[in-house]
Amino acid sequence: MEIVIQESVAKAADVVADAIETLVTGNSAPVLGLATGSSPLPIYKELARRHAENGLSFANARAFLLDEYVGLPFDHPESYRRVIRTEFTSHIDIPDDAVFSPDGAAQDVSASAKAYDESIAAAGGVDLQILGVGTNGHLAFNESGSSFGSRTRIKTLTEQTRNDNARFFEGVVDDVPLHVLTQGLGTILEAKHLVLIATGLNKAAAVAALAEGPVSAFFPASILQMHPHVTIVVDEAAASQLTLSDYYRLSYDNKPSWQGL
Ligand code: GLP
Repeated sequence: MEIVIQESVAKAADVVADAIETLVTGNSAPVLGLATGSSPLPIYKELARRHAENGLSFANARAFLLDEYVGLPFDHPESYRRVIRTEFTSHIDIPDDAVFSPDGAAQDVSASAKAYDESIAAAGGVDLQILGVGTNGHLAFNESGSSFGSRTRIKTLTEQTRNDNARFFEGVVDDVPLHVLTQGLGTILEAKHLVLIATGLNKAAAVAALAEGPVSAFFPASILQMHPHVTIVVDEAAASQLTLSDYYRLSYDNKPSWQGL
């Protein structure tokens, strides 16, 4: 696990955008794992800028979303399928039919969850998965107690997550769906490179717990400690509760240039 501490949100986003640029320019069929939530938005904005100003192309890429609300109509503005298009993919040249998400509106959500895992595998797996973290340690929508081997499936959101996400539903907690479809922790861990971005003071405790706390299903993001290639990118505020921050800075500042992110 590498922890990269940057002085601002914009610089944190740049570090991740650089890794994605390296992937899409150096690979004829890159597979991106996209996350919703507010944390990755500066990355998407920066990539859209590079597309518009420098011609960075995603024409050969495919993208898979982590999760989706169950029961929201297909075109609901807060469905993650819509959000990712509004916030990111409509601003770049990735074909719309190359952006995949779990089908939370399916009659048979279990069958659609299974089909989703199969479609990721058929694409050759995710090369780089962007992640955020919930304040309670949830990863995608894997809430506390999620099995480390879990696959894409239905989950019930905690009250805390529904409260956190009510801001996207005009503050009305009851409008936040109770159920979601989410890639399982086992699914997420199959991605080749996991890149988690967390910024702001309200993520500081979660960042310290996931990077330096015990590995526990109670705090699902701690499973990242088990993956061979994980990068945690944080700003100073989100890094503020890390015990070994001096060491992380020393390592990153002296990283061999051939190593990449
Ligand atoms: C949601 C998403 C997660 C995301 C989390 C944190 O619950 N399903 O993928 O990491 O929120 O969101 P934010 O980045 O807005 O804090």
